[in-house]
Amino acid sequence: MAKLLTIQGGKPLQGEVHVRGAKNLVPKSMVASLLGSEPSELRNVPEIKDVEIVTNLLTIHGVKVDRDATSGIMTLDPRETYSAEHSEIDAYAGDSRIPILFCGPLMHKNGEAFIPDLGGCRIGDRPINYHLEVLRNFGAVVDKRATGIHISAPRGLRGAKLELPFPSVGATEQVLLTAVLAEGITELKNSAVEPEIHDLIAILQQMGAIITVYTDRTIRIEGVSRLSGFRHRAIPDRNETASWASAALVTEGDIYVRGAAQRDLTAFLNIYRKIGGEFEVDDEGMRFWHAGEPLKPLVLETDVHPGFMTDWQQPMVVALTQAHGVSIVHETVYENRFGFTQALTRMGASIQLHRECLGSNPCRFGQRNFQHSAVISGPSKLSGADIDIPDLRGGFSHLIAALAARGTSNVTGIEIISRGYEYFIDKIAGLGADISISER
Ligand code: EPZ
Repeated sequence: MAKLLTIQGGKPLQGEVHVRGAKNLVPKSMVASLLGSEPSELRNVPEIKDVEIVTNLLTIHGVKVDRDATSGIMTLDPRETYSAEHSEIDAYAGDSRIPILFCGPLMHKNGEAFIPDLGGCRIGDRPINYHLEVLRNFGAVVDKRATGIHISAPRGLRGAKLELPFPSVGATEQVLLTAVLAEGITELKNSAVEPEIHDLIAILQQMGAIITVYTDRTIRIEGVSRLSGFRHRAIPDRNETASWASAALVTEGDIYVRGAAQRDLTAFLNIYRKIGGEFEVDDEGMRFWHAGEPLKPLVLETDVHPGFMTDWQQPMVVALTQAHGVSIVHETVYENRFGFTQALTRMGASIQLHRECLGSNPCRFGQRNFQHSAVISGPSKLSGADIDIPDLRGGFSHLIAALAARGTSNVTGIEIISRGYEYFIDKIAGLGADISISER
């Protein structure tokens, strides 16, 4: 039965939450364990749906996965890996985008891979053309079938000279996970350099890979013939941290995020401070609160790292509905990441979407008729509403708006949020929110 979350808004969120390993790193590290000839240990693993999906996918390929939810320690033993039945893999169709990253490791282990139809948040087309193109360059043969993609490497995988049309996080991970055991040298230009990519590189290096990152977004990988296991503590989830920081700002609260790290949040913290948020850092985490003055409007453009990340945009838009004046947000990573603003408008926010690029960052969407710029006029009094969660970050942003709004909100589709936010209901309740859950 589907769950209904009822929120009586208007209470400042105050207290402490604990953030563990990054959703956008942990499942990929789990895939990396497949490349090893020995077991691996991953620490700081959160209890989120994406971890569960990848656990199941690894298990059906013969990897023994043990995890302890409380300590966050997971062990992965890939020594008896085999090809899974297509029907078993297909059971995970539409659940996540991570299966595409199994291609390289499974081809190295078994000579072939089968990838079901992918899922993930509906925030644009989210094609996989870069992934398939780089795999073909390594020598893979791609066969698209009605149920999914069969991919094989009849002559093995060889290093290649590659360049991405856009610094895609997933395609860069695809190259790393394939090149480390490919024969010869791979050079990838225009790669993504997000902190989660660096953490994955650290893991692969521990396993025995030889990877060099240059300052011009080029990554060079010297293929080796064997990799061992790794022991690694995943970096904290900077997107969850930014979400709680935004929640503190919008509800005029004060939240200490245990486990948060400042280093990978530079672009976020600059904007946070300019709009009127404050933060403090200690050895255990970070504290975020509303500085007390009226929030200020600003111009914001999302970008690849080290820019302002697209996953921070949605919670920050909710904060901008409370700023005094007109703000502009230009989304340059996804063509369709403003769908969540419809619910905010129903709650009383004033947000207009535009097809033009309202900013100066290079962008692929201005000429292509996508509503990818937003003009937000504030401050708006938000009122409770009935909300059906559309996607992960948009959904969390709706929660923040409902927590700040006057009156009652009835929220459905909250299962989507558990894909990336562990124990989020308990955390919100622990911060003093007035909420209840029922079955529908
Ligand atoms: C990762 O998605 C994250 N997901 C996303 O987080 C994040 O928003 C994104 O990187 C950007 O930082 C995971 O790590 C699981 P991309 P990914 O390939 O790798 C286009 C969240 O809320 N593209 O960097 O799928 C694509 O359409 C999620 O936590 C192609 O055109 O993102 C997009 O416009 C949402 N063809 C751009 O590149 C391809 O083959 C960047 O996507 C691949 C991507």
